[in-house]
Amino acid sequence: MSNFISSSIGKKLIMSISGLFLIVFLLVHLTANLFLLGGSDAFNISAHFMGTNPLIQIMQPLLALGFALHIIYSLIVQFHNWKSRPVNYAKVNQKDASTWASRNMIWLGLFVLAFLIIHLINFFWVLKFGEPETTVVNGVEMEDAYSLVAGLFINGGTLAYVYSAIYIIGFIALGMHLHHAFWSAFQTIGWSNIKWRKRLTLIGDVYAIIIAVGFSIIPIYFLFIK
Ligand code: HEM
Repeated sequence: MSNFISSSIGKKLIMSISGLFLIVFLLVHLTANLFLLGGSDAFNISAHFMGTNPLIQIMQPLLALGFALHIIYSLIVQFHNWKSRPVNYAKVNQKDASTWASRNMIWLGLFVLAFLIIHLINFFWVLKFGEPETTVVNGVEMEDAYSLVAGLFINGGTLAYVYSAIYIIGFIALGMHLHHAFWSAFQTIGWSNIKWRKRLTLIGDVYAIIIAVGFSIIPIYFLFIK
């Protein structure tokens, strides 16, 4: 078993399975975030549910593990590729057969990681370890997660534009990362063939666009519409 995990295909399999887990997480997170468009009560009830439901509390450490495995194994596989492949060979031959996103997955991934660190400091850290404002909805006291999110993107100040730009650039990088990652993950776990490769590429592109556009709607909504 330990031989398999340290083998090349074992490492890629861990990257793919953790990646597929993160793909599901992104859809759940986007759905929860779209409640922001429904106003403060709708979003605060949804955030309170996510923050207190026992099943979701069990999922949180698993999510952290999913991110950790995905990042660590991506770095290991990438360093191994750099070490074993001469640079010129890679540059000349890969360009014809692959997309820009597929050749730059590590940079897109690291860019998304930088976004994620900023993002966790903005919201997760404040809600879990800071002193967030509270509000009462339907007689229940809860954290005012809506004001926290709205406060970052609203106000019309320069900082709101800077954060909106960081977030939207992060979502575009995430969309490009997913454009290659989606079908590639299915390929690695063996759920792809010539017929399905085309379908998975299309489904992956639709998914990547939903994620990039869906998340981008939120800063745009607060900045220009709300
Ligand atoms: C405008 C878009 C987004 C908004 C408004 C948003 C909002 C939030 C909020 C309010 C939390 C804290 C939840 C809590 O602790 O109760 C959170 C946590 C988190 N977000 Fe986001 N998020 C956005 C995009 C993203 C993206 C694109 C990713 C992944 C690349 C992401 C990954 C996470 C993770 C890993 C957590 C911590 C786990 C959790 O509490 O669910 N978020 N987000």
